[in-house]
Amino acid sequence: MNTTVSLSNIELRNPVIPASGTYGFGEEFAALYDLNVLGGISFKGTTREARYGNALPRIAECGGYGMLNAVGLQNPGVEHVVAHELPRLRELYKGVVLANVSGFSIDDYVYTCVRMDKAPEVDIIEVNISCPNVHNGGMAFGTQPEAAEEVTRAVKAVTHKPVYMKLSPNVTDITAIARACEEAGADGLCLINTILGMRIDIRRRRPVLANRYGGYSGPGVFPVALRMVNQVARAVQVPIIGCGGVEKAEDVVEMMMAGATAVEVGAANLVNPMACKEIVERLPRLMEELEIENLTEIIGVAR
Ligand SMILES: Cc1cc2nc3c(=O)[nH]c(=O)nc-3n(C[C@H](O)[C@H](O)[C@H](O)COP(=O)(O)O)c2cc1C
Repeated sequence: MNTTVSLSNIELRNPVIPASGTYGFGEEFAALYDLNVLGGISFKGTTREARYGNALPRIAECGGYGMLNAVGLQNPGVEHVVAHELPRLRELYKGVVLANVSGFSIDDYVYTCVRMDKAPEVDIIEVNISCPNVHNGGMAFGTQPEAAEEVTRAVKAVTHKPVYMKLSPNVTDITAIARACEEAGADGLCLINTILGMRIDIRRRRPVLANRYGGYSGPGVFPVALRMVNQVARAVQVPIIGCGGVEKAEDVVEMMMAGATAVEVGAANLVNPMACKEIVERLPRLMEELEIENLTEIIGVAR
């Protein structure tokens, strides 16, 4: 059974990557298992300056079907991440590291991406143009093809490492954004980020989240994510990292059949911290059941 996959000529031992914002910088999970079982790690969304994030409460659970978050890109800022978090992450993990970068202006994106490009611990730069929980930034760049193209072009002009643009599902036609990124030189795409949602506390008659709206993710979004991955796979040539609602090995295979080369696992890590490890362990047995010799042979078979 061969579980290896490649993103822009970078080999991953398997396609399983914890999604940004649900895995910190890996340290808490390293206390539970050896991180080196993972195909890659996408660390917490990093911005130019440190951010405290949004007011509390910023998480709303949605029963068995998912959760809303409005964390608002809490992170210690790129200088701290480069100086302290990345060396520690590299000690714990020898596989492929994806630097998830966010910003509030083109200048912000460029600045932080240049820092990540120079950091020896980073293999792939994942540019988040899809955060729904910050104002005047994030998702604003991922909901119009022109803006997505502008960020992609600006980042590509100053970096050498592969650049993957992380797309928002909160659009009418995700293929238009995907094509704009590809045309501007993106090496790959990652989708989906969270779907804008809301919960109301019916006793207090108020939104549950202090931010009013938040990003919905977890098992309930899986069919939507799968549909979008498939639409984008049919529209572009660059590799896709599929994300959204994945919680078991079967979902990884389904995502890959839709067109993903690798797969990120988000909210599932918060429900079951062993989720990624369990998926990785189950994958070879599932491949045997499905008579898959090489995982790469199923990429996009349902395209
Ligand atoms: C608590 C939380 C924080 C997140 N923070 C980030 C982030 O910093 N950058 C980013 O690109 N996506 C972030 N996301 C989105 C996830 O990486 C992922 O795209 C999304 O949750 C869909 O996957 P899932 O259904 O497996 O959770 C966050 C998601 C959650 C639940």
